[in-house]
Amino acid sequence: MTTDPQYVTESGDDRLAQAAQRHLWMHFTRHSIYETGEGHVPVIVRGEGPYIWDDQGRRYLDGLAGLFVVQAGHGRKELAAAGARQGEELAFFPVWSYAHPRAIELAERLAHYAPGDLNRVFFTTGGGEAVESAWKLAKQYFKLTGKPMKHKVISRTIAYHGTPHGALSITGLTTAKEYFEPLVPSGIKVPNTNFYRAPEEYRYDEKAFGLWAAERIREAIEFEGANTVAAVFLEPVQNSGGCIPPPPGYLERVREICDENDVLLVADETITAFGRIGDIFAIKRFGVQPDIITCAKGMTSGYAPAGAMIASERLFEPFKHGKTSFLHGYTWGGHPVSSAVALANLDLFEREGIIEHVRDNEGAFRRTLEKLYDLPIVGDVRGAGFFYGIELVKDKETRETFDDDESERLLRGFLDKALFDNGLYCRADDRGDPVVQLAPPLICDQSHFDEMEQILRHVLTEAWARL
Ligand SMILES: Cc1ncc(COP(=O)(O)O)c(C=O)c1O
Repeated sequence: MTTDPQYVTESGDDRLAQAAQRHLWMHFTRHSIYETGEGHVPVIVRGEGPYIWDDQGRRYLDGLAGLFVVQAGHGRKELAAAGARQGEELAFFPVWSYAHPRAIELAERLAHYAPGDLNRVFFTTGGGEAVESAWKLAKQYFKLTGKPMKHKVISRTIAYHGTPHGALSITGLTTAKEYFEPLVPSGIKVPNTNFYRAPEEYRYDEKAFGLWAAERIREAIEFEGANTVAAVFLEPVQNSGGCIPPPPGYLERVREICDENDVLLVADETITAFGRIGDIFAIKRFGVQPDIITCAKGMTSGYAPAGAMIASERLFEPFKHGKTSFLHGYTWGGHPVSSAVALANLDLFEREGIIEHVRDNEGAFRRTLEKLYDLPIVGDVRGAGFFYGIELVKDKETRETFDDDESERLLRGFLDKALFDNGLYCRADDRGDPVVQLAPPLICDQSHFDEMEQILRHVLTEAWARL
């Protein structure tokens, strides 16, 4: 890890960390470790390219692009400048019955990238709101088109779709939901496509496994009654559970099943869009046409918050007539500053060939991470593009996973902190089987892949020794 004295706080003390402990309620955070003095709040003060620095001047490789967000890398002055310019020209105006140039231009640009006739862009401030908007749109659409019973949604186990009540209901993580029950009713769950954890009889045939998983969606629709099911929500590559790609033929079969039952297919691309999988929208790489795309995170590379739900012409059609409107919106949706930053980010993508860079380097990223297979703790390396999960196991032969106590000791007690202390910010996640997740900025190259591999090798070797 490199220390850069230029960024050590003036006082050299941990004043900021202490104030954080007193006042900052961190998201999804166990505050007890700070209350007991067991942990020290990491305070990140600066970023440059794929690196970040903390308040003590230590440098880390950002192996998670912040939170699957900073596609173009940190410290891009032109993105900050685009926001500043827009702030001076028109800092705020809503898109509630009015429009402003940047929201219009961004909507046009997103429609241009989106597949097929996904031309209608509804702005939000993040992914959860986009998911929430998509479910509400699906419900209203079917009410307006004579199928008022269609309201249920199908999604996959362990998948995360956000924290608003509706999005949380679509989420397939029991632990994330239990304190907030009862949630919005009608969220039905089906298996995800983690091939490493496929039922025994499908373990050696990925295609057959994919078709089996798709059939579970058909079965759920039949069981619930097609006349009550509005939509299937899925990520082209599922994040929670560790970067789970779709088996060959899976998405195509899901599309057919949706068509056969007049059920909408929603691609939740909150993480997978904007280059993460080597296209502006990952679903295009898999050649399947969704009815709605939800997206956020990488749209601005994190220089301002933004999200969107992009719907097909068919879904917009009933809203063109009479007194009908979609009675839904967010004050900050389509914010001029965020929209200007998103446009500058997309310009940067084109000028610097970010998509081509991911396509040219994704194989090298995979091969570099696959070197870790020689470690006894590494069971599976999976993912796509610049989005990988490394599943950790107790026994490679049997694929035995860790029990709750071991998982707690390994992931929370050791791995997260050890990786960070060794100069790699990434995520050790146990929402499902334990995985380490990597989703670096899309400007990374072989030298950064090697740096990740070396730190992971060192820390995972130690983790195994401690077991
Ligand atoms: C697939 C998916 N959907 C929705 C969300 C929620 O997005 P946000 O935190 O912007 O509300 C996330 C967040 O990680 C996500 O990964």
